[in-house]
Amino acid sequence: MTVKKVGILTGGGDCPGLNSVIYGIMLKAFDAGVECVGILKGWKGFIENKTIPLNIAEHDDLHTVGGTLLYTSRTNPFKGVSSVEEKAKELTMNFKNLGIDALIAIGGDDTLGIANSMFKYAKAKIVGCPKTIDNDLAGTHYTFGFWSAVQLASNALDNLTTTARSHQRVFVVEIMGRDAGFLTMYSGISAGADIILIPETPFDFEMDIVDVLKKRVDSGYTYHIIATSEGAYPNLKSLERDFKTISKEVIDKLPKDSFGNPLLAKLNISQIIVDELNLRDDLMNEFKKNDVEFECRSVVLGHTMRAGTPNSFDRILGLRFGLAAMKLVLEEKFGHMVSLQGNKVKAIPLLEGIKKKYITSENDKMEIRDLLVKIRYLSKQK
Ligand code: F6P
Repeated sequence: MTVKKVGILTGGGDCPGLNSVIYGIMLKAFDAGVECVGILKGWKGFIENKTIPLNIAEHDDLHTVGGTLLYTSRTNPFKGVSSVEEKAKELTMNFKNLGIDALIAIGGDDTLGIANSMFKYAKAKIVGCPKTIDNDLAGTHYTFGFWSAVQLASNALDNLTTTARSHQRVFVVEIMGRDAGFLTMYSGISAGADIILIPETPFDFEMDIVDVLKKRVDSGYTYHIIATSEGAYPNLKSLERDFKTISKEVIDKLPKDSFGNPLLAKLNISQIIVDELNLRDDLMNEFKKNDVEFECRSVVLGHTMRAGTPNSFDRILGLRFGLAAMKLVLEEKFGHMVSLQGNKVKAIPLLEGIKKKYITSENDKMEIRDLLVKIRYLSKQK
């Protein structure tokens, strides 16, 4: 059966470049004589049959606009079901109600995980497109939205140094990234943050923060920027030994989203670090000894990192992903997702693509981070 009508949905957190993907799909679909229909609010609209027509003539330059014109939600149709297989089959029947022959699902591991189950159990005619500012999907070298978010966070860190310098302050800046540290690592290195904390390497408060601040102030530094991922946390030893304001129970008891992910942003790790630093008289005395103010502030960049227009890289990657996803539909290569491999956009099975990715110890950014922190104060020591 040739595809005449394709549905498009966007799920999970929004991300710069979503509209670019939608526009890329629409360009190729129009050229191939396929009608596009927008499914609203991700899987929510899919279940509730909430759609809008997508007429490309009404959306010139959609690829330049941030966010998603289809709205998004974190709806998990599998939440609480006894049989994923039965639910997947039931969901797939909905193609008929929606009047679509195929579906392009744009989302992260949660959204694409649902697409994968529908393909696995019901051979649903689905193609995926990887999205997340966190860049934590194994199937693609980069997700669109990531570099826009890195730039926003890097600019914020750059800008904060002027006020940090004026007041001689320690700024602890919290950066999105639930369980992978790509955003914090890349923006932190880009802006030259003085300490960079990521979930992949649980930190030692004494060694990685207090000691480094002491060494820095002794070497002549009067202000300090700590970039921390919202999902960064201390190692167990440090948590038990150094922390007065939180315990392991607090971390374990965090509420979860509908996919079971702990809502780490609720922890507000930047404020916890500031509170703990303020309890350290030894650190305060070290600053005093060097005639430097001891004042700490926390800043949560939060959703400012997902806001605004996509940068050029993400506009172009989004268009390329959209084009490639629509081609997969035309070739009826379902159960696959598009992926960036080096410079090329390729297709890989959804099952492979939805696996999570983290910064590993072989990643050269790890070494750059560690050198950046250490060599600065070491090179200034007399
Ligand atoms: O998954 C992308 C992301 O931006 C994470 O970095 C962040 O933890 C989460 O979404 C925030 O989600 P929400 O907008 O639902 O609070």
